[in-house]
Amino acid sequence: MPYVYFQTFGCQMNVADSNELCDRLGARGYQPTEDPAFADIIVVNTCSVREHAEQRAQVRIGEYARLKKKEAHLWVIGCMAERLGEVLKKKIPGVTAVIGARSIDQIDTIIDSLLPNQTIESLSVKKIHEASDFVSVMRGCDNYCAYCIVPYVRGHESSIPASILIDTIRKKVETGIREITLLGQNVNSYCDNGVDFPDLINKVADINGLQRIRFTTSHPKDCSEKLIRTMAEEPKCCRHVHLPVQAGSDRVLGLMNRRYTAAQYRERIAMIRQYMPNADITTDILVGFPSETHEEFEETLALVREIRYTTAFMFAYSVREGTAAAGFPDSVPQEEKLARLRTLIDLQTDITKEIYAGMAGEQVELMLGARQEKRRRDWMARDNGCKRALIACDGAESGMILKATVVRVSGMTLICERTAL
Ligand code: SAH
Ligand code: SF4
Ligand code: F3S
Repeated sequence: MPYVYFQTFGCQMNVADSNELCDRLGARGYQPTEDPAFADIIVVNTCSVREHAEQRAQVRIGEYARLKKKEAHLWVIGCMAERLGEVLKKKIPGVTAVIGARSIDQIDTIIDSLLPNQTIESLSVKKIHEASDFVSVMRGCDNYCAYCIVPYVRGHESSIPASILIDTIRKKVETGIREITLLGQNVNSYCDNGVDFPDLINKVADINGLQRIRFTTSHPKDCSEKLIRTMAEEPKCCRHVHLPVQAGSDRVLGLMNRRYTAAQYRERIAMIRQYMPNADITTDILVGFPSETHEEFEETLALVREIRYTTAFMFAYSVREGTAAAGFPDSVPQEEKLARLRTLIDLQTDITKEIYAGMAGEQVELMLGARQEKRRRDWMARDNGCKRALIACDGAESGMILKATVVRVSGMTLICERTAL
């Protein structure tokens, strides 16, 4: 039996693409393995969003090239594969194929050309370890935020027809999936012959057996009231909105080409909290954008203090060749960027801790995720928002939903006990 090993960097879209490729290879008889030295195909799915992400991936690919079996394939896929292309083969000897992120739609044809003589044996019957899965509903991005490489590596925005998505999700539910996260760089641009994203959510919610719907990401400039109302009215929709703010200063937001002001952003947050007072709101923030002053950075801190995100992804700006911002003057010195990042992370960490500490004693609705390897009674779970939990229970299975009480909080995990019915 041939084996395939996956290493996935980057965002959930990459995770979805890796899963897709894993399924296609599964249909050709390949089993996943945890050991790259043992694999017949090593797949490294890459991210280009920051320089550091590319460097890490390149180091890792080099390691795999050295440790892999002599005849094993080493495929580099994803965003860096798209950006650098065949150059990667020269740069890192041992790479046998480079498959860019935009080619994922033709993946079957590509696999056929790379693995001739391997016919599809059966439809893949993947064992479900976790009842949660991702589905990309859109590809690409047309927003061209000044700092961002994604539109260049993922190409133009396009929506996958709703009928195909419903069919895909239905099939996943048949194999035991209970929670779906719908993915797109800006899900509110979803449009399939008049079906917009809230309409799509309603259609997905109609699928019997599916219990939870999540999605990411909504761009603040077009996070509509219809979307938030649909979420609030649909019990299958989790109470979690990821709304990347990036910065708190209007001048910086303008330079970033985000097309909203801090005041408009605050209005969206107020709307979300009006419809769903207890929703988890999370964000992405970028510090040290070219010409960002200390005062402007303080505006970001003020916004973070005011909004109180449950958690945030925080980054120091990294220059991406080919983007608009790569040509902007007055870059912030690296040390200053890192100092700002540390200040921001410290502030957000305190807020996150306070929010989690406030959960002690609360009732939550958990969906069981993966069973713990060592203590088999323990399950990782997620509440109806974005918080992770740990709960002991017998006779359980992934995807089960249960009521629980938070008995204490450990770091960013809610330690829960099942509530008697
Ligand atoms: N589509 C999503 C974000 C995708 S990229 C959105 O519009 O919000 C994920 C995050 O990476 C971004 O939100 C941003 O905070 C960060 N990011 C993107 N480009 C970056 C760069 N050049 N340097 C540092 N962080 C960056
Ligand atoms: Fe990048 Fe902006 Fe598109 Fe998000 S919306 S992927 S940050 S260009
Ligand atoms: Fe995602 Fe990174 Fe590509 S964030 S879209 S994997 S550049």
